[in-house]
Amino acid sequence: MLTAALPGLDLLATAVMLVDERARVMYVNPAAENLFEMGARQLKSHGVVEIFGGAERLVAAMAYARANACSYTEHDLELTLGARTALHLSCCVTPVDERQERALLLEFRPIDQRLKVDREERLLNQNLANRELIRNLAHEIKNPLGGIRGAAQLLQRELPRPQLAEYTQVIIDEADRLQALMDRLLTPHRLPQPRSFSVHEALERVRAVLRAETPEGLVIERDYDVSLPPIVADMEQIIQALLNIARNAVQAMQGRGTLTLKTRVARQAIIARRRHRHAARIEIIDTGPGIAESIRDKLFYPLVSGRDGGSGLGLSIAQTYINQHGGTIEFESRPGRTSFVIHLPIADATSNA
Ligand SMILES: Nc1ncnc2c1ncn2[C@@H]1O[C@H](COP(=O)(O)OP(=O)(O)O)[C@@H](O)[C@H]1O
Ligand SMILES: [Mg+2]
Repeated sequence: MLTAALPGLDLLATAVMLVDERARVMYVNPAAENLFEMGARQLKSHGVVEIFGGAERLVAAMAYARANACSYTEHDLELTLGARTALHLSCCVTPVDERQERALLLEFRPIDQRLKVDREERLLNQNLANRELIRNLAHEIKNPLGGIRGAAQLLQRELPRPQLAEYTQVIIDEADRLQALMDRLLTPHRLPQPRSFSVHEALERVRAVLRAETPEGLVIERDYDVSLPPIVADMEQIIQALLNIARNAVQAMQGRGTLTLKTRVARQAIIARRRHRHAARIEIIDTGPGIAESIRDKLFYPLVSGRDGGSGLGLSIAQTYINQHGGTIEFESRPGRTSFVIHLPIADATSNA
């Protein structure tokens, strides 16, 4: 029996349940008995649906985790047990396929513990939706633009007075300008070319570029965790993402201050909804004035810039690349200390189990 292999679960503070293929409870740990105020014997004689009266979201989460053979976290679960007031929980569902049993491990957490994860997931969904919207919009603008430009060109040839060509030329030039902008918004969809490399190698490249770009006055400190395993990713894209973030930091400090490049191994990290045994945590810290309050909420949107002559594409592109690799970017900022934290999964044979 599978549960015999998991005696350590009894000691966990997290409420854990193991259910079989038909969602019947096979095992509950003491933390789960406490949380649901029901004894193991009582819980074990029933199915999850029966115990929680419906629980469509939980059922859907279990179906998803099973269908995709991956961990899935439902962040907004309301479970009612009999006459008790509803419990507000998050639940991480993980398939634990042990040959004979297609079991699922359910980890329940009261809602406040998962606020951070919740926020992260909301942001991720929002970003995906925004990017999709921008891409669609750019496409929709590009198509008629070609028509407008072509028509202006035809018109230019037929004009009775050549001086009028000044106006058609404005149409053509402005159409070209818009076209170029739309092309930049439709970030190149080159497929990532993953290979194994050290994050430190990438950071050293970033450091070299920044050194070459900035005169004295800028101090670059390195705080590398030498035990950090290599990551499998498209190195050029990762360098580009890190460079975009670090370059902003240097610009914000106006070439004077301290830039810190820091790495750590993150263990049991939940990144973009998935649990990873190991992840690379890369932090880029500057001593500049901080991110302007007015743009914080939309910092990663394209065309959002806080400086003259900025394109506002740097962070949007960085985020696209990092997300494409299953990673996340977060930031924290106050005058004197701004930090961007990038998490990237480290491939691991069991990282999705
Ligand atoms: N480390 C930082 N410190 C202060 N402001 C920052 C920092 N990083 C980004 N920003 C702000 O975010 C804006 C958007 O950055 P980005 O997307 O790279 O576009 P751009 O650099 O072209 O303006 C910047 O213009 C700047 O105002
Ligand atoms: Mg920038």
